[in-house]
Amino acid sequence: MTPSARNRTERTTVAQSAGLHEDGELLSDETKDRHRALVSLQEELEAVDWYDQRVEAATDPELKTLLAHNRDEEKEHAAMVLEWLRRRDAVLDEQLRTYLFTEAPVTEVEDAAMGAGGSEAAGDGSLGLGSLRGVEQ
Ligand SMILES: [Fe+2]
Repeated sequence: MTPSARNRTERTTVAQSAGLHEDGELLSDETKDRHRALVSLQEELEAVDWYDQRVEAATDPELKTLLAHNRDEEKEHAAMVLEWLRRRDAVLDEQLRTYLFTEAPVTEVEDAAMGAGGSEAAGDGSLGLGSLRGVEQ
């Protein structure tokens, strides 16, 4: 292998494993796809943060409105990829069902979930957290 061919091979290997913490050869397609989704979620949330700061710093009102619109589209993208992840990760699904859309302080939701003995407590799969959600069940 010529030095330039070796460099090309090394660059290709680096590009294929960028962001992976283990050799891609050792990882399943499912794990690599979840990695892609997690990186996308991270990027979408970072974009929200960048846009938040740009909206605040911009001085032109029309530009502020445009940037805020773009920021909010990034939130949609983040929600979509989070949902894709939730559908493929039972533990993430359980955690999101426990904490999202509740009204009580988050630590109280945790206490209630722990006190309820986790996912088996209510016997109906609800965790018995209806009173913390602030919604009728
Ligand atoms: Fe996006």
